[in-house]
Amino acid sequence: MINATAPGKIILFGEHAVVYARPAIAVPVFHVRAQATIEPRADARVVIVARDLAREYALDDAPADDPLAAIIRATCARLNVAPQNFCIAIHSTIPLASGLGSGAAVSVAIVRALAKFFGVTLSEVEVSALAYETEKLHHGTPSGIDNTVIAFEQPVYFVRGQPIETFRVARPFTLAIADTGVAAPTKIAVGDVRRAWEADRARCESLFDQIGALARDARAALERGAVDALGDLMNANQVLLRAIGVSSPEIETLVGAALRAGARGAKLSGAGRGGNVIALADAVTQDEVERALLDAGARRVIVTRVA
Ligand code: MEV
Repeated sequence: MINATAPGKIILFGEHAVVYARPAIAVPVFHVRAQATIEPRADARVVIVARDLAREYALDDAPADDPLAAIIRATCARLNVAPQNFCIAIHSTIPLASGLGSGAAVSVAIVRALAKFFGVTLSEVEVSALAYETEKLHHGTPSGIDNTVIAFEQPVYFVRGQPIETFRVARPFTLAIADTGVAAPTKIAVGDVRRAWEADRARCESLFDQIGALARDARAALERGAVDALGDLMNANQVLLRAIGVSSPEIETLVGAALRAGARGAKLSGAGRGGNVIALADAVTQDEVERALLDAGARRVIVTRVA
C-alpha cells in the first residue's frame, strides 16, 4: 500500500489580484491534509474511492470533468504508464470551498501517491504543474498559487508566469483561521471579479496595483521579522478586497470580532464571499481572538504558527 499527503494553504496577501499577474503570498497549513492511498488490484480496473463523499466509481465511468479522474489520467500520462490495476482512495481533513486549497491538495496528494506507486521521482515543479491542470476544472483562470504553495510546502511569493520564489519567514507568527461556515466556490467569486474588471478596467487595475504593493511590502516585512507591520498590511488588503466586492456580511462579522478581541489585523483569505477569515494573533491575544471568533459564529477556528 502506498500513501502520500499534501497540506492545506492560506493566502496571506494578494488573492484575486494574483489572477491579474500581481504578486501574492501564500503559506502551507499543516494542521489539515489531503491523503491518497493506492493499493494494487487483481483486475485491470482503476477504482476511485472518495471517502469523504462516500463515493466509489471506476475511472472508466468518470466524466471528463471529474477532477479526481482528470488528475489520475494526467499523472499516468506523464508517468508513461497505463492507468490500470489499482484502487486509489482519497481522504481529506481540509474543508471544501473554504479557501484552504482542498482541491489543489487532493490533486497534489494523488500525483505524489501515483509517482511513488510507479517508482518515479517528480520534482515539486512537475507535481505543481500537474495539479495546475485540474485547478482549471475548479475555475477557469487559476493563477496557480494554490498548487504551487501546496506542492512546495513552503511560503511562496507568487507572480503568475514567473519562476517560483520560496522565502523564509524570519520570525514565526500566529494566525487564527476562522471558517465562516459559508461554502463559496472559487469559480463564482473569480467570475464576478472578471465581470467587474471588464466593466471598469481602470478601477480594478488600480485596486490590483494597490494589493500587489501590499504583497511586496508584506514579503519584506516577513523576511526581516517585522511581524508588527503585518497587521496593518492585512487590514489594508481587506479594505481593497471589500472594494473589489468579494467580502460578505459573514466575513465582516468575523473580521470585526477578531479586531475587537485584540488581533493586529484580519482579512478574508482565498476567493472570499464565505470561506475563511485569517486574524493575526499573538501569545497574549490568541485565546481571546479564538473565543471571539467562535462567539461571532465561526464554524471552527484553527490556530496555527506560521514559521
Ligand atoms: C483562490 O485560492 C485564490 C484566488 O486568487 C484565485 C486564484 O489565485 O486562482 C481567488
